Amino acid sequence: MSEETIHIARTRSEVQRCIRSARAESKRIGLVPTMGALHEGHLSLVRAAKRCCDFTAVTIFVNPTQFSPTEDFSKYPRTIDEDLKALRELGVDLVFMPEREELYPDRFSTYVLPPAVSDPLEGQFRPEHFRGVATIVLKLFNLLPADVAFFGQKDYQQCQVIRHMVEDLNIPVEIQVCPIVREPDGLAMSSRNRYLSPEDRVRAVALSEAVSEAARLVQAGMTDSAAVTKCMHDILHRAGVTKIDYATVADACTLKPIDQIDRPAVALIAVYVGATRLIDNTLLPAK
Ligand code: PAJ
Repeated sequence: MSEETIHIARTRSEVQRCIRSARAESKRIGLVPTMGALHEGHLSLVRAAKRCCDFTAVTIFVNPTQFSPTEDFSKYPRTIDEDLKALRELGVDLVFMPEREELYPDRFSTYVLPPAVSDPLEGQFRPEHFRGVATIVLKLFNLLPADVAFFGQKDYQQCQVIRHMVEDLNIPVEIQVCPIVREPDGLAMSSRNRYLSPEDRVRAVALSEAVSEAARLVQAGMTDSAAVTKCMHDILHRAGVTKIDYATVADACTLKPIDQIDRPAVALIAVYVGATRLIDNTLLPAK
C-alpha cells in the first residue's frame, strides 16, 4: 500500500504543499537528502528515517554547485528508475526530484559561506565544494522543513559542516548521523565505486583497512598522530594507492590536525584509486 502512496514532486510549490499537509497532520517528518544512484548506504538513512518518523521525504538532486568545473557533474551516475523502485519498496512518502532550474534559476546568486570546519581536508582539495553543499542543504531545509534530517558518517566532514551550520544559523532541525555501510570486504559503499576497474576495486579495500588499523592502534594505546598517520600511508602505499590527498588524524569536532590523540578524534582518508576519488573515515576510540 505504501507503494501506492509515494508522491513524486518536481516543483517547489508541489513539495511545499505536500510537506505542509504532513505538518498539518502533526507528523514527525524525516528528510534524507541524496544525489541519487542509491545504494545500501543511502537506503540505511531511509530506513533510519522510517524508524523514527511518521513521514519520510527523500530528495534526489545532483547539485551542480558542489562540483568544480573539473569534477564529474555531467558523468555523475543517474539511475532514477531503480532509485524510485527502491524508495517505493521502502515505503517512502515523498520524493523531491527537481530540475536544475527549479533550484538554480538564472537569477540565482546567494550562497552560504560555510563554517570554519569546512576549511581543512576536503576544503583544501575541493575549495568550493562545501559552499555548494551548505547552500543546497539549507535550500532543502527551507523547502522541506523536517523534524530530523539524516546524513551518513561516510561524509564525515560534510556532517560536521551541516551540524555547525545548523547551530550557527539556528535552523530548527535535528541532525542524525548514521553509520557507514560497507561492502563485505570493508569498502565503504559509494556511488563512485562503480567506476573502479576490477584491479582498482581490489586496491580500494586499502582505505577501510587503513582506517580500521588506525582505530586498532589507538585502541591498543598509540596516541601519537604522526605514527598512526604513517601506518595509514604505509597500508595505502603497499596496496598501490599512491595518489593521496590526505590520510590523517584530526579533532573529531573541528577537524583541525592534532599531534596527540588525547580527545575525540577521527582518522580520514581521501585518495584516488585509478581516476576515481574515494573517501573513508573512522572515529578513534577516546582515551
Ligand atoms: P550523496 O553522495 O548522494 O549521499 C547522500 C547521503 O548518503 C549522505 O548523507 C551520505 O553521507 C550518505 N551515504 C553515502 N554513502 C554512504 C554509506 N556508505 N554509508 C552511509 N551513508 C552513506 O552527500 C550528498 O549526496 C550530497 O552532498 C548532499 C548532502 C545530498 C547535498 O547535495
